[in-house]
Amino acid sequence: MLKIEDLHVNYGAIHAVKGVSLSIPRGGIVTLIGANGAGKSSAIRAIAGLIRGARGRILYTPPDGAEVNLAGMAPEEIVKLGVTMSPEGRRILPHLTVEENLRLGAFIRTDKEGIERDMDHVYSLFPRLRERSWQKGGTLSGGEQQMLALARAIMSRPHLVMLDEPSLGLAPLLVKEVFDIIGEINSQGKTVLLVEQNAFAALKIATYAYILEVGSIVLEGRGEDLLKDSRVKEAYLGG
Ligand SMILES: Nc1ncnc2c1ncn2[C@@H]1O[C@H](COP(=O)(O)OP(=O)(O)O)[C@@H](O)[C@H]1O
Ligand SMILES: [Mg+2]
Repeated sequence: MLKIEDLHVNYGAIHAVKGVSLSIPRGGIVTLIGANGAGKSSAIRAIAGLIRGARGRILYTPPDGAEVNLAGMAPEEIVKLGVTMSPEGRRILPHLTVEENLRLGAFIRTDKEGIERDMDHVYSLFPRLRERSWQKGGTLSGGEQQMLALARAIMSRPHLVMLDEPSLGLAPLLVKEVFDIIGEINSQGKTVLLVEQNAFAALKIATYAYILEVGSIVLEGRGEDLLKDSRVKEAYLGG
């Protein structure tokens, strides 16, 4: 569904992503794991069209169409093709209500009935958000804001949803809840690219995983295999 070839991101003299290639099959959950500063957000933001001057090929094949190169396309065009990102740090709009935040997620859509159906659908995935639909985003707890960011990403009706560290700063019980929901979103037919520092949770859910160190992929394999890999255990799973 998505094939990235030799992706580079530079910020001035900083070479943050150094020739990353990876492949995401339709229906899978692929995870990109790495420590702080490894280049995970830069990679995912480049796919979403948010980094001017990123180099490489980002080949996307929508379920109903021919392969296109997303590189150089505008972010809204990429969303329209069905590729959406939920950014790191729960970037919801604090002064808008939960409901308004969710509707913003559907900004590219014109199918009013479909939007109402999907509002209902995300509220059933996240009952907590339904209870708080009139609450301002900024007054939600950290975990609830994370769920809102995820729910908002789904409102654009993506084929491929990219999540940038959805577990960041969450208590273990909430991490489990968020990952359960990611699994459910995937089982409803969406392909997932999951960027995480929480290697254990990510590898458990992922069909395939890539490990990024200072801008380069150093290891890849099936999630369950990497969980058992001694190098991964040592560096990412606390020995
Ligand atoms: N806008 C930016 N300007 C300059 N350097 C940046 C910018 N964004 C990220 N970087 C640098 O690029 C590297 C990778 O950052 P990032 O992609 O955010 O990593 P990660 O998401 O894995 O923590 C880091 O060294 C970071 O300081
Ligand atoms: Mg990041």
